[in-house]
Amino acid sequence: MRMVDLIQKKREGGELSQNEIEYLIGEFVRGHIPDYQMAAFLMAVYFQHMTEAETFFLTRAMEYSGQVMDLSTIKGIKVDKHSTGGVGDKTTVILAPIVAACGVKVAKLSGRGLGHTGGTIDKLEAIPGFCTSLDFDQWVKQVNEIGIAVAGGNEQLVPADKKIYALRDVTATVEEVSLIASSIMSKKLASGADAFVLDVKVGSGAFMKTLPEARTLAALMVKIAARSGKKACAFLTNMDMPLGKSVGNALEIIECVETLKGEGPRDLTDICLSLAIKMVEYGAAISEQEAKNRVLERFENLDALNKFAEFVRAQGGDTAFIEEPGLLLADVKVLPWFARADGWIGRMETEEIGKAAMVLGAGRETKESVIDPAVGLVLEKKTGDAVKRNEILGYLYYREEKRAEEALEILNRAIDYDTEPVEAPRLILDIVA
Ligand code: URA
Repeated sequence: MRMVDLIQKKREGGELSQNEIEYLIGEFVRGHIPDYQMAAFLMAVYFQHMTEAETFFLTRAMEYSGQVMDLSTIKGIKVDKHSTGGVGDKTTVILAPIVAACGVKVAKLSGRGLGHTGGTIDKLEAIPGFCTSLDFDQWVKQVNEIGIAVAGGNEQLVPADKKIYALRDVTATVEEVSLIASSIMSKKLASGADAFVLDVKVGSGAFMKTLPEARTLAALMVKIAARSGKKACAFLTNMDMPLGKSVGNALEIIECVETLKGEGPRDLTDICLSLAIKMVEYGAAISEQEAKNRVLERFENLDALNKFAEFVRAQGGDTAFIEEPGLLLADVKVLPWFARADGWIGRMETEEIGKAAMVLGAGRETKESVIDPAVGLVLEKKTGDAVKRNEILGYLYYREEKRAEEALEILNRAIDYDTEPVEAPRLILDIVA
């Protein structure tokens, strides 16, 4: 087999066989296919796309390109959750303890943020002492003991994705749907769970800007899981405004605690409960209604908050901030953001809002950037809210004046004031099962 022939076949719209796909992934990971040929192949896929069968074979070849987790020493059905990434998306930190408090084991591997989207690992590391570098045995032991563990991504998992993603990033081929689906699902499948709840974000702060695009991606990922013999469903959720009020690592952790205390923003609470109910339905193998009753009970009686505290302690974190959130924000300065007009908040350019947080130091521009856990934004107004000129829209938590000024400029460009009332967007747009 020759790579040049596979590039040509795909360029002309042909369908690759399982054999051909296994060859190209295997040889690429072994370093026998150069980057320039893989880049050409990715561009051919970008224009010609892949069939469902090709995408499945690509996912499987990537899944088995490195280590595959064996979670058989954890009893019960293991359910994983994945979000395609957004601004203020802190759902894992809230729903993982809810699900664990319901008796469903959560063995989670999470990533760091890049660009305008945040990562769960960065958020958890805003907690003093919290350790995310658990080895496999520690991770499994903690899940067996307390029902929950969250660790940073394992370097041995899906090496094909690491190499291919780096090429996609610099060849303008990230956005192709079969490449996204295989990238996400290969990592999910290699992490060893039995079932998946996927949160596909849609809107100005997401990869998928439109509902039809998001639906296509969601359906493809659910089909890949089904062909792999695993249960999955995908929620399509709104990312035309940040989720919750806070963007920035420590601020988001504080909001997670408020939410687990039952005092969080409505949108964030609703989405976490909806995703948790589906995870418990799958993990406990009970009906949706039973899962709902169990989730609401463990959330309202604060079992989930207590499970969160147990989880933080188990991973070395200091839990004092749960009662005293200000401990996470030491020495940071606060600047109010004022409305420039009367009206209703309309469009929010959510990616730009994520960039404003990044400019303050909450996110990474490059993999090497160092993040400041205490900086970020708290939004007091979002799409649909009425505002008066000079009313407070939110707060910037910052350290350097220059960065705060730049972030403020971005924020002012990122929102529109409408003269007519605006409806708040629907949060859950659809569920693909
Ligand atoms: N997230 C991933 O892991 N891969 C993609 O290709 C896009 C989002």
